[in-house]
Amino acid sequence: MQTIFTHIQSLFGIQNELLPSIKGHDLNKVEHIDQAWLLIEDDRILDFGSMEHYPSGNYDKDINVSGQLVFPTWCDSHTHLVFPKTREEEFVDRINGLSYEQIAANGGGILNSARHITNISSEALYDASCQRLEELIRLGTGAIEIKSGYGLSLEAELKILRVIKKLKENYAIPIKSTFLGAHAYPIEYKENHEAYIQLIIKEMLPAVAAEGLADYMDVFCEKGFFSVADTDRLLDAASKYNLKHKIHANQLHNSGGVQIGVKHKAISVDHLECVGDEEITCLLNSTTIPTLLPAAAFFLGISYQPARKMIDANLPVCLASDYNPGSCPSGNIPFLLSLACTQLKMTPNEAFNAVTYNGAAAMELKHEVGSISKGKKANFIISKALPSFNLIPYSFGSNLIDKVYIDGKQF
Ligand code: NIG
Ligand code: FE
Repeated sequence: MQTIFTHIQSLFGIQNELLPSIKGHDLNKVEHIDQAWLLIEDDRILDFGSMEHYPSGNYDKDINVSGQLVFPTWCDSHTHLVFPKTREEEFVDRINGLSYEQIAANGGGILNSARHITNISSEALYDASCQRLEELIRLGTGAIEIKSGYGLSLEAELKILRVIKKLKENYAIPIKSTFLGAHAYPIEYKENHEAYIQLIIKEMLPAVAAEGLADYMDVFCEKGFFSVADTDRLLDAASKYNLKHKIHANQLHNSGGVQIGVKHKAISVDHLECVGDEEITCLLNSTTIPTLLPAAAFFLGISYQPARKMIDANLPVCLASDYNPGSCPSGNIPFLLSLACTQLKMTPNEAFNAVTYNGAAAMELKHEVGSISKGKKANFIISKALPSFNLIPYSFGSNLIDKVYIDGKQF
């Protein structure tokens, strides 16, 4: 089945080369064709070009999208969207003066979510996750990574990872699954961290690997959570099961998470609110993708990531949502783009590349999604009538998305 979209105001985010990632000042370049056509066949992009060279033919469908932009769907490489319930009471506690770290130290935060995971059935957890995922797809997300980490016991971690597996089976968008058993030490291991590390290494990892439930292993490397030495051992153990690495690094302190991630050739190190020159130099000598999560910094009211410094240093900066019930209860990428532009001083083009091509790279999906390229999946967004992409981050809070196509079908 062939469908042609014609009179596209601007076909934006074209990429003819399969680069490892988009770096530094190249992030500000976005290839586009104004007054364009796009031809898809079944679930793939077949061809595209300028209306001046319109290929007349017998297509199954011919859709005129005059005035509207077409660009690839967002690739959100960091989420925790499988969680039991929202935590708005902690939001109010923070407004009243408690810090995120104080709430966590008092048994709230991640441990609060972990307490509720045992009370929810797998079916209800799956249904809630479907609702969240569908909301995100309607907002333009066309590939996503989802972490466990609200279980913190063998059974509960498996419960979350099995829900992610079911999402993978039932949704057409590519989904990557990450095992995050090392998200927090459970209360019962408060005085015996070593026993929890052994539980992860000796019981959780083998079980997760035996069922093929994860693509990656993540560790929350942070003061009060997992130390650099813990992270080192956990990542070594994950490598034995061929799980590649991602790390929650340098969110609340300059924790050493970046260096340990680079040492282990992590696919990405994520958060990076607290990084300096040393971390930037370390990343420059690596293939690890620095992934910024400014919506979490926004929601916690902490300092933003030094994106300008990182881009000017020639790093392949990536943006992701961090959708989770504690530090970022939103996976809304258009809003993330607004934040990246207004707070991180990224240009709309830089923010666009960071959450499309580089997001795909941070999930090892750049051969499938992340740009308008021949042969890639027909996962794209059709905006409302707009003169330029800049209007998307500019119009914060407005929904300028008209339609989302996943695998060549309107979602
Ligand atoms: O990425 N920082 C650690 N983990 C999550 C938040 C977890 C939570 O508060 O539920 C994050 O921000
Ligand atoms: Fe996170």
